[in-house]
Amino acid sequence: MEVTVDFLVIGSGVAGLTFALKVAQYGRVALITKKEIKESNTNHAQGGIASVFSSLDSFDLHIKDTLSSGVDLCNKDVVEMVVKGGPERIKELIDFGVNFNIKEDENSQNFDLGREGGHSQKRIVHAQDMTGREVENVLVQCVYKHKNIDIYEHHIAIDLITRSTRIKRGFVVTNYEDTCCGAYVLDRKNKKVKTFNSKITLLATGGIGKVYLYTSNPDIATGDGIAMGYRAGTTIANLEFVQFHPTCLYHPKAKNFLISEAVRGEGAVLINKGGEPFMFKYDKEKDLACRDVVARAIDSELKKRGDNCVYLDISHKKSEFIKKRFPNLYKQCNIYGFDMTKDPIPVVPAAHYICGGISTDIYGRTNIKYLYAVGETACTGLHGANRLASNSLLEALVYSDKAAFRAIKELKIIKKRPDLNIPLWDETGTVDSDELIMISHNWDEIRRIMWNYVGIVRSNKRLARAKRRIDNIISEINDYYWDFKVTSDLIELRNLSVVADLIIKCALHRKESRGLHYNIAYPEKDNKKWQKDTILRRPFVI
Ligand code: SIN
Repeated sequence: MEVTVDFLVIGSGVAGLTFALKVAQYGRVALITKKEIKESNTNHAQGGIASVFSSLDSFDLHIKDTLSSGVDLCNKDVVEMVVKGGPERIKELIDFGVNFNIKEDENSQNFDLGREGGHSQKRIVHAQDMTGREVENVLVQCVYKHKNIDIYEHHIAIDLITRSTRIKRGFVVTNYEDTCCGAYVLDRKNKKVKTFNSKITLLATGGIGKVYLYTSNPDIATGDGIAMGYRAGTTIANLEFVQFHPTCLYHPKAKNFLISEAVRGEGAVLINKGGEPFMFKYDKEKDLACRDVVARAIDSELKKRGDNCVYLDISHKKSEFIKKRFPNLYKQCNIYGFDMTKDPIPVVPAAHYICGGISTDIYGRTNIKYLYAVGETACTGLHGANRLASNSLLEALVYSDKAAFRAIKELKIIKKRPDLNIPLWDETGTVDSDELIMISHNWDEIRRIMWNYVGIVRSNKRLARAKRRIDNIISEINDYYWDFKVTSDLIELRNLSVVADLIIKCALHRKESRGLHYNIAYPEKDNKKWQKDTILRRPFVI
């Protein structure tokens, strides 16, 4: 089956939804999402959106904090553009119907501003401790109502289609300097592959957390956009910078449950199993140091003491305040048997955010014509070597606006172009899989390898070991992929393996320690040699 649209949006987080809403009055939009529309990383974002509203704050201070968190690797122009674009985008969300927490306070333009690690001022606009959910709910309602947007839930993209795409036994083969004209998409419920023919395509598939054994991310975060982009020939940058959130709930049944950094912003203190605060030993900002510092400090405490978790304690604050500020966390912690108004919460770091991704310009354009990438899938230059807390939703909002502006202009040009003749999906010769164990086993192995060898603290030996094992898994997946009909598990496994491989390659390449990338063989930052992005492109295949 073939679907022809003006805009194909892959992903239904804040980046995909806002882009879709902005371009929809200029053309037909297909929004595809691999589960239910609300199942996105955005939906799980607790903290909020960093932006300058306080009279004690300034664009300069937000820019300074972002640059300093990014450890000399941010693109200053991008930082300036994103920071300055924040207030307008947040007001636009309010116009869409989003409710942020309000406090009667002239100094903060009536926002109840929170604080998180690395921020010198209170600047986190939030909706209690469920900011992402509030934003996602409102945007989804707007998208549902738009007559020009068709929503395809339970549809997972397999590969991008470019002008040079050829199908070789179900394998999509593309060339460099290409033009994107859509994607092959598996309808998961009907088990059919559809060909989406689009003039403009946006990759907004979110992050890669599931490549690690422990992650704050939901199950959908399998790096699909980055993997598809890489296979199609986009430039990939800085994947060694994987952010580990310092505080995920440590409980055998609490899958992916994040304890927001906003809790430390309101005064919570990290303590070890002996009840001793420890962050003062690692950074002058103590518990509100940047995430890379806090995650490494926890890792070091755990290794020194042989403990399996540390604790986050906010019990010194008034119980009423905690329940009002963190209603969801309070409720969830109770489910697992912790009353955060009284008990310290057991926490460990977990993979949370990838600072690298598909390299884009200031409009979110990739090096492939008419292919855009926005949000966690993209590497814009904002985050450098370590993303400042709550700068991610901000980046997604500013870039989806820029991308929409540019895409609308491009559409006018492309409309004059005759439709490209693109090959339909061809699964001749493939059969239903008879070895599902291969998929589940490799999925598990990749996540363990990445957690054990490509985690918070790296070494050359661990990275080399990871590389050897991932190479084997990739060749096994490729053999398998050629022979069987695609399923969503196979698509995700293939994407995870590509992303794992790219993270390892980037990490092996960078011979220094900076921000989120820490290698014991090169413990120092080396600005002379390494103050530059790590760039990867797929070797030419045809
Ligand atoms: C958090 O609430 O701690 C997460 C916010 C973020 O990752 O920016």
